[in-house]
Amino acid sequence: MKLHVVTFGCQMSVADGEELAAPLMGRGFTAVGDPDSADAIVLNTCTVRQHAEDKALSLIGRLREWKDKDPERVLIVAGCAAERLGPWIQKRFPYVDLVVGAKSIEDYPKIVEEALGARFDALAETRLSFEAPLPEAVDKKFAAFVTIMRGCNYSCSYCIVPAVRGRELYRPYETIMAEVRAKVLLGIKEITLLGQTVNSWNGAGLRFADLLRKMGGIEGLERIRFESPHPFFVNDDLIKAMVETKNVCEQLHLPIQSGSDRLLKIMRRNYTAAEILDKTARIRAALPLIELSTDIIVGFPSETDEDFERTLDLVKALKPSWSYTFKYSPREGTESAAMTDDVPEDVKVSRLERLNRVCDGLTEEALARRVGKVVSVLDEGGGFGRTRDGFKVSWKGAGTDGRLVAVRITGTSKRILKGETDER
Ligand code: 5AD
Ligand code: SF4
Repeated sequence: MKLHVVTFGCQMSVADGEELAAPLMGRGFTAVGDPDSADAIVLNTCTVRQHAEDKALSLIGRLREWKDKDPERVLIVAGCAAERLGPWIQKRFPYVDLVVGAKSIEDYPKIVEEALGARFDALAETRLSFEAPLPEAVDKKFAAFVTIMRGCNYSCSYCIVPAVRGRELYRPYETIMAEVRAKVLLGIKEITLLGQTVNSWNGAGLRFADLLRKMGGIEGLERIRFESPHPFFVNDDLIKAMVETKNVCEQLHLPIQSGSDRLLKIMRRNYTAAEILDKTARIRAALPLIELSTDIIVGFPSETDEDFERTLDLVKALKPSWSYTFKYSPREGTESAAMTDDVPEDVKVSRLERLNRVCDGLTEEALARRVGKVVSVLDEGGGFGRTRDGFKVSWKGAGTDGRLVAVRITGTSKRILKGETDER
């Protein structure tokens, strides 16, 4: 029995994809990359922008043929768009076997068990006789995600996430530590802690900065990353914890969204451009090797040329090595969807192009700064890995899977550092 998992959206969604696969893996499915040979498909959807949702819906439409070929096949649609449009999806695509929204992910194994009953249960006897550990859905041998919180208590006016993911829920400290330790024992060297606003995590009197410090003590854990922090919770204690905890990587995502204080206010972001710059200065003073990345929206309702210039100013001052830029997309039910989407499409497009030119230039500069240097890379196999500060590296030479390799960077291609290593 073969399972194909398709995931749209953020890293959180990718990690959810692994959880969505788990109950089927527990029934004896094995993961395949090819949908045609699959007996079951789990489609994990995203709704953060209309485009992401449209892509998922069009794939559900195309999967009708897959399902028609063998009605015994199982199609599960999950995730954020499933939360927003559940009953509509079921009605519009009646051949979908199960629609499960993002808010139900904690109950998802139970829901799948109920829906499938005795079907597709190659391991039924084993599962009844003892609690077998679930096999990993995705074979990532050296780097893994650990979800530490779900949901979002913010109310950014453009964002659908709080509606489809609900209020913040934190995983308990002990559970997180146990999961990280178990993964390290299996050979994982790098953990990325995940949450919608990952750094608002707290538990049993501990804050996110304390969690980093505690994880710093785990023997064998080479690297810790976290995604996606909210700038509001990037405070001096977090910066201090990043300095003190040597396995925390020199990489920080600081999603600014805009550089205009007027827009930041309407977006309900709870900070100003000056505060972002002040935080950045403190981060860079404490962590000189840090590389920043960011998210930016252009064409938010009422955005003027002047507002947009402030965004360009902030990006130029922040100098992110990676930027994720988006055209504003009104999402039904959000606060900003009630505002007039008044920036004409051609203006949105030309602003996005201008912004991308600036952002691409900064990325190219960051890549170029590494040429001629020797960087430390976690070898993920096949001559590929990542630096601590978040750059992809591919190199020729002997591989040392799962270990840190010193790679001399000789050039760049398609935003990947190219290099060579002397190790044999
Ligand atoms: N329109 C455009 N971009 C959006 N984002 C979130 N909601 C919207 C929207 N309605 C972007 C933000 C966020 C990223 C994950 O997606 O930049 O940080
Ligand atoms: Fe959306 Fe804002 Fe929450 Fe991020 S912090 S998920 S942008 S509401």
